[in-house]
Amino acid sequence: MKISPAHPPREGEGQPAAAQKPPPGSGGGRLKRERRTAPPGDEWFRTQPWATQALLEREAFPAMIWECACGDGIMARPLLDAGYEVIATDLRQRGYGVGGVDFLATSRLPSGCDSIITNPPYGAGRATAFAQHALALGARKVALLLRTSFLEGDQRERLLFAVQPPCRVWQFAGRVTMWRGDDLAPRDTGGATPFAWFVWERHHRGTQVGWIPQSADPVVLARKGRRGGHASPPPALSGSDQPPLL
Ligand SMILES: C[S@@+](CC[C@H](N)C(=O)[O-])C[C@H]1O[C@@H](n2cnc3c(N)ncnc32)[C@H](O)[C@@H]1O
Repeated sequence: MKISPAHPPREGEGQPAAAQKPPPGSGGGRLKRERRTAPPGDEWFRTQPWATQALLEREAFPAMIWECACGDGIMARPLLDAGYEVIATDLRQRGYGVGGVDFLATSRLPSGCDSIITNPPYGAGRATAFAQHALALGARKVALLLRTSFLEGDQRERLLFAVQPPCRVWQFAGRVTMWRGDDLAPRDTGGATPFAWFVWERHHRGTQVGWIPQSADPVVLARKGRRGGHASPPPALSGSDQPPLL
């Protein structure tokens, strides 16, 4: 579904504009693997849809969500498929949503929207800046896909977690394979970096941790099935079986 903000962006205000439906045929198939065109520092890595679906199986969000670093829309699409309205913006135009919107320079949430889901750039303190800025904008709910090592760091503890801790951290039990934006397809499973969903809710205190089983990854699930394993889809947590307090 496509939405338009009630108030169009004002010049220089950094106000995000509405998501666009991806043009037919856009997305992963457009660029060949050998054409590695993403400039260094851009940090365009794609999130496999199952990783976003795993979040949505565990967390409910307000009806309208801002994907504020949307890349080519691969994270926005599962949100749309789940019935959310999505505003999709990115610093760059990658064939989806609205490009040229520096999230860190925005001064307000899109009209009618008070939740944010994204996989932000990580380098140069930008992941922390994204979390701080999302909360400073007054978002009611924020979910960021981050390296698990985001939990550590003295400065981050003082400036972010001590001020506003995440309400839940959903650790992926297996590795989430991130793949470069200009790669044609995901490079199978695996990867060197553990990831987790960090979720903030306004005014929430205390952090819970839960795990997203490796079988949430359909490739792993299929492999286990071929080997006769006992993989099963991830169960959705209800209010009564929330993960324990950290
Ligand atoms: C790790 S990629 C994630 C893309 C997409 N969310 C996904 O999950 O596949 C990070 C994205 O952040 C964008 N980006 C970097 N700095 C940004 C900024 N200041 N404001 C908005 N987007 C930014 C990059 O262009 C890139 O597309």
